Amino acid sequence: MTILDGKKVSNDIKDEITDQVKKMVAKGEKVPHLAAIIVGNDGASLTYVASKVRACERVGFESTMVRMSNTTSEVELLDKIEELNTNSDVDGFIIQLPLPPQINTQKVLMAVNPDKDVDGFHPMNFGKMALDMSTFIPATPFGILELMDRYGVETKGKHTVVIGRSHIVGRPMSILMGRKGFPGNSTVTLTHSHTKNITQITSQADIIISALGVPNFLKAEMVKDDVVIIDVGITRVPDETAAKGYVITGDVDFENVSKKASYITPVPGGVGPMTIAMLLKNTLLARERHMQ
Ligand code: GUN
Repeated sequence: MTILDGKKVSNDIKDEITDQVKKMVAKGEKVPHLAAIIVGNDGASLTYVASKVRACERVGFESTMVRMSNTTSEVELLDKIEELNTNSDVDGFIIQLPLPPQINTQKVLMAVNPDKDVDGFHPMNFGKMALDMSTFIPATPFGILELMDRYGVETKGKHTVVIGRSHIVGRPMSILMGRKGFPGNSTVTLTHSHTKNITQITSQADIIISALGVPNFLKAEMVKDDVVIIDVGITRVPDETAAKGYVITGDVDFENVSKKASYITPVPGGVGPMTIAMLLKNTLLARERHMQ
């Protein structure tokens, strides 16, 4: 069994990006600039955005965090987006999700300039991705592909089962794994809340990508020997013995499933760190495109 070490690989990627930024600086070029809008005070979202800002500092990017109150109206958010769309100093920006209920998420995501949409959430970029065109691939799916690529996980001809159809992970992952290319060329089954007999499906999977958000959902009895496991779950489970009062728990019963798996991602330290590394990669890509 091999652990897919997202922490190590993400550090390698950040080192590679740092080198590229140093070369940009040596040539007198502007360094990439990532902005993040966060609306409200959700603890997990604030933690993620703070990690994104720290990661920018580490690789030498400029970063801007825009905090807006929980009562922000849709119009106010759209105004802020327009400001970032037209600010030529900002190469890429993200709007941290989820947004408060008074805001229509889809409408907001459609207002982002597709050339600055480093999350890859705009319908134009999502469509390009589905058509195998060069574009920004959403950071978590992009990170999963990169992790499999760097460990040489074979995906061609394999049966990949994706659990969860979210717009951020499950849906794009189901498209990417079926694409022509590497990683890709899988036969994909996309499962969700209305799927019947999920164990029958997961037990036939060569690769399982779980993005459900139900702690310890996937048990050893549900998988076959030598399965590849990608655990995208990051649920905060209350735990009084933990310093923060909670532990981050994945969708997979790691202790038992890892005994049967050929490759498996841990939680934390698997997919999570890859997401941030690939957001940086997309921002670098945005900077390079803006220079052309
Ligand atoms: N919320 C959870 N994951 C993500 C992500 O990848 N990007 C943004 N913007 N919000 C998220």
